[in-house]
Amino acid sequence: MARVAFIGAGNIARSLIGGLTANGLAAADLRVSDPDAAQLAQLAERHRGLAAFASNAAAAEDCDFAVLCVKPGIVRAVCEEIAGALAQCGGVLMSVAAGVPLARLDEWSGARLAVIRCMPNTPVAVGRGVIALCAGARVSQAQRDAAGRLLGGVGVTVWLDDESGMDLVTALSGSGPAYFFRIVEAFEQAAAELGLPADAARRLARGTFCGAAALADNDNGDGGGDVARLRREVTSPGGTTESGLAALEEGGINRLARAVLAAAAKRSAELAAATAQ
Ligand SMILES: NC(=O)c1ccc[n+]([C@@H]2O[C@H](COP(=O)([O-])OP(=O)(O)OC[C@H]3O[C@@H](n4cnc5c(N)ncnc54)[C@H](OP(=O)(O)O)[C@@H]3O)[C@@H](O)[C@H]2O)c1
Repeated sequence: MARVAFIGAGNIARSLIGGLTANGLAAADLRVSDPDAAQLAQLAERHRGLAAFASNAAAAEDCDFAVLCVKPGIVRAVCEEIAGALAQCGGVLMSVAAGVPLARLDEWSGARLAVIRCMPNTPVAVGRGVIALCAGARVSQAQRDAAGRLLGGVGVTVWLDDESGMDLVTALSGSGPAYFFRIVEAFEQAAAELGLPADAARRLARGTFCGAAALADNDNGDGGGDVARLRREVTSPGGTTESGLAALEEGGINRLARAVLAAAAKRSAELAAATAQ
């Protein structure tokens, strides 16, 4: 089993740790570092055997992967702190920080480590994430395979040869769960405003979207249902669904989707530009 150090114990680190342990990775193979002692204690309590460190460099000693789960603005400082320990043990530096390019990770870690940039999303916590990965030049096939095995346990992994796609990946799959939650919220709220009891609106909206997502995922057995066909199958001519969908089209659903992705990808590119300085 891979020994994995998480640097930063926030949302995405907790999601990854939860998913990996649920998938059978022993908590004893995991370490985590964070300046917040209470946060560390909570994680160590939840995952018995997980080692918690106040020092990032100590957490990164003797590991196979050090996963940077800190905000983009402090990635540089953290790379500099842990590079020596990683160089010594031959561990892979893996960063999930939005907008921080491989070239910067490589430079900040002294141009001597195998570096992987990856973009997971929070459904990794329940083994249903998607994780896009991009490997730096020093990453061996064996390290790539090991990273794929590790993260394949918490979701679907997609390797990108061209790092320039990462801004759009960040916009789509990194930020995507929040769009879904917002859409469900909007329907819950609308149903309540139009007259359903709030609790019924909440349970019906959530159940509908989650059930439809499961159907889309399982439709043809390989996790890739044809959503356009599924939509047509439930849309009778002249029926209620057709009327609802017409309102979605009038509201400009395709234009809105493009605007959402463009805005988030632009922000990812801005973060990349800011971290490049
Ligand atoms: N959340 C997501 O869905 C998601 C998805 C993909 C990628 N990401 C990326 O993951 C990274 C973390 O995001 P997040 O949402 O998990 O943020 P977060 O919840 O704020 O977690 C970041 C953690 O890093 C800690 N930290 C701060 N300074 C540190 C240091 N010097 N050394 C070690 N740890 C330090 C923070 O502690 P304090 O709170 O005490 O400062 C916090 O616990 C970001 O770069 C983001 O782009 C997030």
